Amino acid sequence: MTVFRPATLDDAMAIAEIYVDSWRNTYAGLLPDDVLLRLDAANREVRWWRRALSGRRMDHLVYVAEHADHGVIGFASGGASRGRELTHEIEIFTLYLRDEFHGRGIGKKLFLSLSERLVTRSDGSLLVWVLDGNPARYFYEALGGKCIARRNGSMGGAEIEEIAYGWENVRELIELGKYS
Ligand SMILES: CC(C)(COP(=O)(O)OP(=O)(O)OC[C@H]1O[C@@H](n2cnc3c(N)ncnc32)[C@H](O)[C@@H]1OP(=O)(O)O)[C@@H](O)C(=O)NCCC(=O)NCCS
Repeated sequence: MTVFRPATLDDAMAIAEIYVDSWRNTYAGLLPDDVLLRLDAANREVRWWRRALSGRRMDHLVYVAEHADHGVIGFASGGASRGRELTHEIEIFTLYLRDEFHGRGIGKKLFLSLSERLVTRSDGSLLVWVLDGNPARYFYEALGGKCIARRNGSMGGAEIEEIAYGWENVRELIELGKYS
């Protein structure tokens, strides 16, 4: 059984490990090798996630998926939408699962649980930015996300292109997800 709950400081190490492993598995070939090799779950990334979880980073809510036998197997973070040009209410910033738990419906439940916690308006809208070339874009399409924008940016210091997926009514998406 897997539960979805707000992360605590005690989850920082598990989150940092999943973050580093997922980056290396997902972004190999999409980001430069040195960006992926520089990641350091034991030090820099865990400090970053400890700060995020201790509430010093405002408006950044983190949820974990916790498996009864395997502990924390994934996490997602989100908050108020950070973009200026897109006016969606909320944004999912990160969503990463341990590889061996992909394809079991856990990503969808984690995404919907966090979105449900974040959305405040009855017609609240949602967006997520995905690296161009990341197969996760098909996950967002399967959830009904529409491609709404593209931008150039940087990720871990590398120049990248990203695609935004948007949902105009998050509550509708959550209701659909509950029954499928
Ligand atoms: C993206 C991710 C969170 C999806 O989680 P998941 O548990 O594997 O996905 P689910 O099993 O919940 O799938 C939900 C739906 O999306 C579809 N889907 C998921 N990944 C897909 C893919 N790569 N290609 C096509 N469809 C996909 C599923 O078929 C399913 O469709 P259905 O509801 O019609 O049956 C997970 O694969 C992951 O952690 N990937 C690596 C990290 C990453 O890229 N994160 C996103 C950064 S923006």
